Amino acid sequence: MDIKDLKKQAFIDLTKIQNLADLEQLRIKYLGRKSELTNILKSLKDLPLNKRKKAGEEANAFKKDMEIKIKNLESQFIGQVIRTKEREKKIDITAPGIKMPCGHLHPITTITRKIEESFQSMGFKILEGPEIENEYYNFDALNIPKDHPARDSWNTFWLKTTPEKLLLRTHTSPMQVRFMEKNNPPFRIIVPGRVFRYEATDALHSHTFYQFEGLMVDRNVSIANFKAVIDEFLKKIFGRETESRIRPSYFPFVEPGFEVDMRHPKGEWLEIMGAGMVHPNVFKAAGYVPGNWQGFAFGAGIDRIAKLKYKINDIRLLYSGDLRFINQF
Ligand code: DAH
Repeated sequence: MDIKDLKKQAFIDLTKIQNLADLEQLRIKYLGRKSELTNILKSLKDLPLNKRKKAGEEANAFKKDMEIKIKNLESQFIGQVIRTKEREKKIDITAPGIKMPCGHLHPITTITRKIEESFQSMGFKILEGPEIENEYYNFDALNIPKDHPARDSWNTFWLKTTPEKLLLRTHTSPMQVRFMEKNNPPFRIIVPGRVFRYEATDALHSHTFYQFEGLMVDRNVSIANFKAVIDEFLKKIFGRETESRIRPSYFPFVEPGFEVDMRHPKGEWLEIMGAGMVHPNVFKAAGYVPGNWQGFAFGAGIDRIAKLKYKINDIRLLYSGDLRFINQF
């Protein structure tokens, strides 16, 4: 076959190409190693010199032309394929939706917010204090001097590297004096936060847990006021039928000191918080004249309230990060 026939044949074949596969067949037929064109190019050397140049030019021009045509067709077909794929991808707006997974609050956060809300409704302000404390605010200012045996009630994580003796606060009570140093009565505050104890962990204890501190100071604040506030708080969290009672106890920063118990009708009494009337030495540490003011303070474990409210039997579950547990709330 000479080049002219080859061109004619190619012209016809090109019109028949339907897709990329056809195009590949065409490429092999006209530009492949065993193609007619390869034969023609190979046989150029046998031609007489005067014909060789022209035939060579013609064959090469044909080759170039075919290459360009094939390239163009190729991009055309690829474009078509992409467009078809896109059409197939079109969103079916009638298909049922996929629900987006959505996180939720940890039970400790939920109960903390409930506690805050209930006290806010009784005029208490919410504030926070530092987790790293010094000895003064955590102990001395709360009427717990260095050699006082009561210090043993708070097993402490001491921080090593500071010249000033720093520690991880063992309770939220240090905020009592920190706040009173800077503010004058009357006031009502709640201080939720994380506290730390150097203790072995079991179902009831954790080295890290949450407390909230309460403090109300005014000219004439009595135990009756305290009882009313706490009773209302417990009813808000655990239901209107909840009862409470106070019982004498000892904490160095209050006098008298007591513990609060609660129960549901006919249930057992459960200890829920420590409390008392602010000790004169604590008022002194804050720079108040003790005789001028009266106040009550209280402190409770948020974990404990969460445990009772949500009927959790092991405090460690709250800190396990185990989603099988967490997702139940
Ligand atoms: N800080 C005490 C504790 O961690 C709890 C407490 C008891 C706080 C009596 C008070 C209080 O404010 O008056 O064990």
